[in-house]
Amino acid sequence: MSAIQTDDLTKNFGSLCAVDGLTLEVNREIFGLLGPNGSGKTTTVLMLTTLLSQTKGSAGICGHDTVREPDRVRSCISYVPQDMAVDTNLTGRENVLIFARLYGVPNPKDRVDELLAVMGLSDRADDLAKTYSGGMRRRLELAEALVHEPEVIFLDEPTLGLDVGARKTIWDHIHALNRKGMTIFVTTHYMDEADQFCDRVGIIDHGKIAALGRPSELKARLMKDVITVVVDGDYSPIQIEGTLLIGRSGDEISFTAENGREALPVLADALSRAGNRVRAMSLREPSLDDVFLQSVGRQEEAQGFEEWRYRMMLRGRA
Ligand SMILES: Nc1ncnc2c1ncn2[C@@H]1O[C@H](COP(=O)(O)OP(=O)(O)O)[C@@H](O)[C@H]1O
Ligand SMILES: [Mg+2]
Repeated sequence: MSAIQTDDLTKNFGSLCAVDGLTLEVNREIFGLLGPNGSGKTTTVLMLTTLLSQTKGSAGICGHDTVREPDRVRSCISYVPQDMAVDTNLTGRENVLIFARLYGVPNPKDRVDELLAVMGLSDRADDLAKTYSGGMRRRLELAEALVHEPEVIFLDEPTLGLDVGARKTIWDHIHALNRKGMTIFVTTHYMDEADQFCDRVGIIDHGKIAALGRPSELKARLMKDVITVVVDGDYSPIQIEGTLLIGRSGDEISFTAENGREALPVLADALSRAGNRVRAMSLREPSLDDVFLQSVGRQEEAQGFEEWRYRMMLRGRA
């Protein structure tokens, strides 16, 4: 029995296909659903947490169907939505206590003490939540989500808007929960975080999974090095042996090469011979951003390069 299993899970809003045939299995791991704004992450989470019904396909959580057995599903999951859900006019302790009572947890006061301690909030437990930092509120929401000891937890953009230190703390907590055997399904549009902290990721764009696997595997599908080129003005396409265009984001064009050091001068030469004004070139290892650009770029080139380029520019600005 899988913690999370979906088969052709699809959601249409009118003529818009927000989630398009998602087939996935997730078990006792930290699974990251990655994608830009509007790619279908929240819609996916809403279906998996029984809050939205699908147009087509099915989803099962801990062996229970999300449509036929929503109560059974709800008893084994927790969901922390993207928007802050704590009551800022109550103390941290009161916020968690409400959840413990809602779930009918035995010895709710002890359970709340324990959870506040786990989330490092004991010394601020009796302060109003409105005095908490963004990171503390997120930890309070995690404490709320844990009152009934769920087997599977869904976190929608848990680190959105937090500073670097607070993000790291949230991820440390997520890891600790996973070590205790919990399955974590987390969405983010921060590729670097997913790369660092998720066991497996699915890259979603326009509701479709464009790449699925361990971050290291996905990066290994690209060649060893990435060369990034910044051009002034229009880019005249080139093609040389040993390098492959990954994609373009704003005025940055990325290529992948098996041996970046050797490819760099050849590429520079070819670019300028084709009339490009190269402002900067750099060499680095592949990142999940490159995987994203490549897996999405391929689909979009088929749809028309101009539209793709426009969207990449917008994305670069976001
Ligand atoms: N209730 C809704 N009615 C109509 N369109 C929606 C609704 N919810 C989401 N969408 C659309 O579905 C797409 C996916 O949205 P969402 O799942 O929220 O994306 P993400 O969480 O990745 O930013 C977007 O184009 C969004 O505008
Ligand atoms: Mg969302």
